Amino acid sequence: MKLAIVYTSKTGNTEELVLFIRDLFFEKKIEVRLFRVEQFPLQDLPTFDGVIVGTYTWGHGEIPGEMMALYRAFETQECHRTVTAVMGTGDCFYPQFCGAVDAFRDMLYVQSNLAVTLKIEIALQTKDHERCRRFTDIFWNKFEIGT
Ligand SMILES: Cc1cc2nc3c(=O)[nH]c(=O)nc-3n(C[C@H](O)[C@H](O)[C@H](O)COP(=O)(O)O)c2cc1C
Repeated sequence: MKLAIVYTSKTGNTEELVLFIRDLFFEKKIEVRLFRVEQFPLQDLPTFDGVIVGTYTWGHGEIPGEMMALYRAFETQECHRTVTAVMGTGDCFYPQFCGAVDAFRDMLYVQSNLAVTLKIEIALQTKDHERCRRFTDIFWNKFEIGT
């Protein structure tokens, strides 16, 4: 099974979330490779069985510029069987809370086998841990039920 988390993080909130999720997979003895988006080999995207996208939100609910190449790669390459998920951190102060997660969700729903999404308010807190566990379980169950 070839699994990746591909992410971006400017001030560290999304990175903290990503590392927590990666550790939850490790607890289940599931290896997930971690890539900052700039280091991800976009041409290899269809060779992954599962990809989790991690992103903050910028501007007015926008996808950060560095994530756009990944977004386009899902649109232009054959990924309909790839199990995907998207998670992110954002700030409820903004009208479009985690707008980048919504934008990835809408695209991945069409272009891939989207399993689950997760939005976290700014920085990960203990109260979020259970939601993270559910996110990880739902993603993994997609493989177990073979859809
Ligand atoms: C200029 C600017 C614009 C932002 N716009 C949004 C937004 O539209 N929606 C949102 O939910 N959060 C927005 N945020 C909040 C960030 O997405 C949030 O702080 C996030 O946790 C940063 O993630 P990072 O620490 O991984 O970089 C914005 C932050 C800045 C500085």
